[in-house]
Amino acid sequence: MIIARTITELQKIVLEKKKQRKSIGFVPTMGYLHEGHLSLIEKAKKHDDFIVLSIFVNPLQFGPNEDFDRYPRDFERDEMLANSANVDVIFYPDVNEMYPNDLSATISVKKGVGVLCGKSRPGHFDGVATVVLKLFNIVQPTRAYFGMKDAQQVAVIENMVADFNLPVNVMKCDTLREEDGLAKSSRNVYLTNDERNEATEIYASLKQALGLIGAGERNPNVIKETIKAHLQAKTSGSVDYIELLAYPSLKEVDTLEDEIIIAIALKFRQARLIDNVTITIK
Ligand code: PAF
Repeated sequence: MIIARTITELQKIVLEKKKQRKSIGFVPTMGYLHEGHLSLIEKAKKHDDFIVLSIFVNPLQFGPNEDFDRYPRDFERDEMLANSANVDVIFYPDVNEMYPNDLSATISVKKGVGVLCGKSRPGHFDGVATVVLKLFNIVQPTRAYFGMKDAQQVAVIENMVADFNLPVNVMKCDTLREEDGLAKSSRNVYLTNDERNEATEIYASLKQALGLIGAGERNPNVIKETIKAHLQAKTSGSVDYIELLAYPSLKEVDTLEDEIIIAIALKFRQARLIDNVTITIK
């Protein structure tokens, strides 16, 4: 496995593989790899010949009061995990390599950002879209793999790819969960033991919502209130949002029909956890 710390180094390797007509699978991450990331790599290996994993904690997508400095980092461990997952190259640039100067242009995401995480994290998806566009230009992947745990991020990236005719296939991958249902996330390490136990209620409340929809409930407000009551009764977290939206447009709906996403963000003391399910209503 090669570790490329510069853009030139990475591009030379990728160009060589492209000359050999190899397809490039790309898994962009901010590191501190967990099984969710490994499942993206596994899926990439099924479709693509040559796998590039990027590890870059992108300052542009963190707000001034967010956890950029505190975001967990452990490159040695990541390197070991990537190696055992048979990644071909880790692209591991530092901030100066990615942003040597103040950017003269950034992506400003206009649709699907006034809801879910976009509401409480202004500018976050501009930062995500900007770095992902840069990474796509650097890596020039055939396919790029993203987890549906960040469903809003996936929608924003799919829209950007369509808007700018980027020659990459966005591959959506299911959320990977712990045995008790908690969505895997690098931020789970911030939870205390009690919070870790309570955090399972996020997915439990999503399943409860799916049960209600299965039983015929079509009013989004009834589902929202049920989830809210569940989380308030069973956790010490505070609800950041509970939303039911059309997917992938992320538009508000009066009644539940077609494809919808039910998404939750719950704040514990040191960690804000997100989770969602999508469902097609016939
Ligand atoms: O999902 C993430 O880890 C990040 O938002 C991404 C896509 C790597 C961009 O920094």
